[in-house]
Amino acid sequence: MEKTCKDDILCGINIAKDGKGMTDLEKKHTPVIEAPNLAKAGEPFEVVVEVGKLLKHPNEPGHFIEWIELYSGDTFLTRVDLTAELTDPKIKIPIRLTHPHTMKARARCNIHGVWEGKKDLTEFEGFGSC
Ligand SMILES: [Fe+2]
Repeated sequence: MEKTCKDDILCGINIAKDGKGMTDLEKKHTPVIEAPNLAKAGEPFEVVVEVGKLLKHPNEPGHFIEWIELYSGDTFLTRVDLTAELTDPKIKIPIRLTHPHTMKARARCNIHGVWEGKKDLTEFEGFGSC
């Protein structure tokens, strides 16, 4: 049987289909972004990204989260590489935006591939448009 991208968890970026009806696999791998709803142009605010917040992901040498990345829209902001057992898949980073986009976080499990979570910042002060 021929495998397509849709059937291959290691191909592309996995995104949970429904926030309420998530599978255990989706809950274990989807990065959860915590950020204030209000952002002010040019002023730093803290963003926390955690994998396994919805359902704990294994953290052992044979199965762990290798890295977490954070984006504002498609603009890369940061990447943190992680080590099994010695680090937890949770990062906290101050960021500063010049204009608003949906926050995106991506994380890679060494067995289950890359996963993406999103969060909209809902209120902005002092921002121009893109
Ligand atoms: Fe995994």
